[in-house]
Amino acid sequence: MPDYEEFTSEDFDTRLIDVEYSAEDSENEVNLRPQTLDEYIGQAKVKENLRIYINAAKFRGDSLDHTLLYGPPGLGKTTLSQIIANEMNTSIRITSGPAIEKPGDLAALLTNLNEGDVLFIDEIHRLPRTVEEILYPAMEDFSLDIIIGKGPAARSIRMPLKHFTLIGATTRAGQLTTPLRDRFGVLMRLELYTHEELATIVTRSSDILGIKISKSGAEEIAKRSRGTPRIANRLLKRVRDFAQIMGDGEITKEIADYALKQLEIDELGLDGTDRKMLTTIIKFYDGGPVGLETLAATVGEESVTLEDVYEPYLMQIGFLNRTPRGRCVTKAAYEHLKMSMPDRQTKNGIFSESGEN
Ligand code: ADE
Repeated sequence: MPDYEEFTSEDFDTRLIDVEYSAEDSENEVNLRPQTLDEYIGQAKVKENLRIYINAAKFRGDSLDHTLLYGPPGLGKTTLSQIIANEMNTSIRITSGPAIEKPGDLAALLTNLNEGDVLFIDEIHRLPRTVEEILYPAMEDFSLDIIIGKGPAARSIRMPLKHFTLIGATTRAGQLTTPLRDRFGVLMRLELYTHEELATIVTRSSDILGIKISKSGAEEIAKRSRGTPRIANRLLKRVRDFAQIMGDGEITKEIADYALKQLEIDELGLDGTDRKMLTTIIKFYDGGPVGLETLAATVGEESVTLEDVYEPYLMQIGFLNRTPRGRCVTKAAYEHLKMSMPDRQTKNGIFSESGEN
């Protein structure tokens, strides 16, 4: 379990599609987490390339190049880093950007690493600037520059570090400074999972947890997990409760459907906040375009939450477009919400299927 975790009251919120870690997830993921690349489902391209980089580094007797993993939350960046450490036969230290407050904190972490170890920094875009500057020589030359003393007597000494691999994870690669981004040899983007991949993950997790599940039951959960394994595993546990109390313990399509309806997660995995976001754009801004900050203020969420947590899935299913002038709801979203489109939009051709305006 990541040792930086501090649970807040929000972690115990009942929001099932929350992509942030919760206490239950960490307990969950300890045994559900795949340990090897072979066990890891999905992210085929990332896996294929990683396998080559790992084998090549092992063949040369080197540490793996510093790697940046980016993409929406809940897709398995921590898991993948643990797998990398496993496959390299090394240890991993897990921390996060906001947990490293002072340069000395990072210096202590770095000097304790052994040859080839992995240092995983989650939310690396949130590292304080003074800390980030310590990372540059550490990543580039495996050395630590320490300033001793103050004023005219101050001098800098250089301390060698063991060859380690930094794995940085971020939901916002664009917020990384250029000097930091340029020091990563490998940049990998994790994508939302397909329904098939999620169904395989749900089936694997069910096997591990000893839950009986039908193929269509797993598919039903997968379809409603918004491309995110963390959500799929969480929904699986909730649906299991319904199966045990209302059925004979086996998760069938019918039980999954009933349970998810009770949990107010619709057939596409949208919850109340998704629907509120889409209906706000429709009701207050005629379907858009509306700027992100304006939308966030109207919905009452932080703009980063909308951008990182809600938008990736809504865009993947084609319900939302990001345009230079702001966010726009698509025809498919109107149809899903059973709302009628205003004339302006049907007439201006944006949503016209026939091309006749
Ligand atoms: N559990 C969570 N993410 C997983 C993945 N990508 N593959 C297998 N099991 C998982």
